[in-house]
Amino acid sequence: LASIEVDVSALEPGMSLTVKWRGKPVFIRNRTEQEVEEAKAVALAELKDPIARNANVDATAEATDLARSAGEGKENWIVMIGSCTHLGCVPLGQAGDFGGWFCPCHGSHYDTAGRIRKGPAPTNLPVPTFAFTSDTVITIG
Ligand code: FES
Repeated sequence: LASIEVDVSALEPGMSLTVKWRGKPVFIRNRTEQEVEEAKAVALAELKDPIARNANVDATAEATDLARSAGEGKENWIVMIGSCTHLGCVPLGQAGDFGGWFCPCHGSHYDTAGRIRKGPAPTNLPVPTFAFTSDTVITIG
């Protein structure tokens, strides 16, 4: 299947879901306000990878929290391929020094916007092509 539909109606703020898409895990998280605020507070100059890596925005877009999220009005939602950009392990959620994701294989720390902040991974966790096709359904791919 090229694309999948995911019902996210059960995900309250602070809850995540992992689905499989094209053989890879995709993390869907309804972020808490605090997680969004933390990510927004980070200066772009602090980022190891300053590019959004979001298939839904311009390829050169900066890695602001908004550009990493599902966009205006849906900033709480983040959808990312759950494959560490170092060597492909699956990072653990709500872990690591930045409260986002942590890859235990070689110690890569991602923030609450899935941006690489520390460790060997070179780039942010990629955001696949997706859209909200209703208030509660995300179509990935
Ligand atoms: Fe994640 Fe190496 S595969 S840090």
